[in-house]
Amino acid sequence: MHDEAVTIKLSDKDPREFSGDLLVYLVEEDIPHLASDVAGVIHRVLQQVWTTGDFKGSKEQTLLFYPGLMAQDNEGPVQAKRVLLAGLGKQDDAINIRREQLRLTGGTIAKQAGIVKAKEVLVVLPKDFLLDAAEIAQCLTEGLLLGNYRFEIHKTLKEESDKPSRVERFFFHDGGLASGAVRKGLQRGRVLAEAACAARDMANQPGNHWTPAAFAEYAKKICKKSQLKCKVLDKSAMQKLGMGGILGVNQGSALPPQLVILEYQTEKKNPTILLVGKGLTFDSGGISLKPPAGMEDMKYDMCGGAAVLTAMQVLSETEVSGVNVVALIPATENLSGSAALKPGDVIRHFGGKTSEIINTDAEGRLILADALAYGIATYAPEAVVDLATLTGAVIIGLGHHYTGLLANNDLLATRLTEAGAQVGEPMWRLPLGPEYRKQIDSRVADIKNAGSDRSAGTITAACYLQEFVGETPWAHLDIAGTAWDFTEKSYIPKGPSGTGVRTLVACLSQWKSLKTTDKKL
Ligand code: BES
Ligand code: ZN
Ligand code: ZN
Repeated sequence: MHDEAVTIKLSDKDPREFSGDLLVYLVEEDIPHLASDVAGVIHRVLQQVWTTGDFKGSKEQTLLFYPGLMAQDNEGPVQAKRVLLAGLGKQDDAINIRREQLRLTGGTIAKQAGIVKAKEVLVVLPKDFLLDAAEIAQCLTEGLLLGNYRFEIHKTLKEESDKPSRVERFFFHDGGLASGAVRKGLQRGRVLAEAACAARDMANQPGNHWTPAAFAEYAKKICKKSQLKCKVLDKSAMQKLGMGGILGVNQGSALPPQLVILEYQTEKKNPTILLVGKGLTFDSGGISLKPPAGMEDMKYDMCGGAAVLTAMQVLSETEVSGVNVVALIPATENLSGSAALKPGDVIRHFGGKTSEIINTDAEGRLILADALAYGIATYAPEAVVDLATLTGAVIIGLGHHYTGLLANNDLLATRLTEAGAQVGEPMWRLPLGPEYRKQIDSRVADIKNAGSDRSAGTITAACYLQEFVGETPWAHLDIAGTAWDFTEKSYIPKGPSGTGVRTLVACLSQWKSLKTTDKKL
């Protein structure tokens, strides 16, 4: 959605010759030296601020200076307009912390670059940071590009200078690291960050711009440019298939529903994983109308769909092997038009299960149920992962810091938790069980779509979904708290975070069959 793409490349230029806006060196806490051939002026500044104690490389600490003012006669000047020293913090034993340190530093650099309106930035990679070169480049790239994200398309600018500034060109200097590995990591980081930014764009777009049809159009567009296959089931196809959940939620809206299907196919012998993402492009609550304060945030109710869609983009761009992946995005609005679903109505889901509607605001589970049942019946996947901004209750329980994870399979739950920890998207598992399932027993239908009270709201929502997955290993990620206003960090702005994209890719790109060590709950 951005007009011009931000570029990021490896450069073989000597940093002294770089004449752009900002030259950046990364400094580890308490290690007062940089790459050996650093220009004299930079070396002197570092010694000075180290002695005064003004800068010691601690986490997210920065120091900006103007080398042109300080060069001595006997040394070649540094061409860059400004130099930034950026602190990495103390080197930690835990590899996931080191990855996060690099992403945070990348975000901090982007932020500082924004403050001085730098357009062209060269970052010298840290040679002695204990991670392999590709990972250093990947994590920094993610931090830089995610931190450089802006969403500005709906503001009329009076002057060009009103435009929130962002970097247009990033360069890396390998700092002595193997350049092949740096290139590979940079590429991977770029694809991941661009996908997460695309997911943020979809979420930032209001409901009158990002509609169910927009999901379908975007999916078709990415399929044209890649090996992904795309199918879109329209309303009449859904009617034939008996998808009473999606159709029911759609009844109050003037826009037709869409079930977007993307397939990433590798070898036949590889297992198939099914992804399902909630694509509710606006959730008013329907007849069980939400209170007006903050209702505008419900344009974000499609973040699960956005994560799944853009993760597919990454799988194909990075040519992940060893796994086939199918993504389903049920997309509709939840409004209260005259034909809207009403409390007390009974619907029939794909596969025949009936459901009594207690609260039309518990609509996410209705559209996901059809998609889960249809996806499992059609693709017989080895495992299913769904992502949804499903319950306000997960925010009460975990705040905006952890995604809620519920699963019928321990191994799948562990894999997702580890993938999340790797990429800085933490998850916390909640239980499932018959005592919770009882809360959605209905007197008039097979189940009801909400419990009689608000207790364990995240779990009862997951129990509803569990009814539609049978024995297939399944995990549900409730991202209501983390899809937007996720723990604010240098590379995660307020608003939509793009959460889920990097976790899904991390999990799927190292996929091993669950079958050998299958553990059921
Ligand atoms: N989209 C909401 C969940 C949500 C709430 C996401 C707040 C982000 C912030 C979902 O469709 C919903 O309204 N759920 C209800 C379920 C209830 C009626 C059983 C909820 O959580 O209140
Ligand atoms: Zn709702
Ligand atoms: Zn919703």
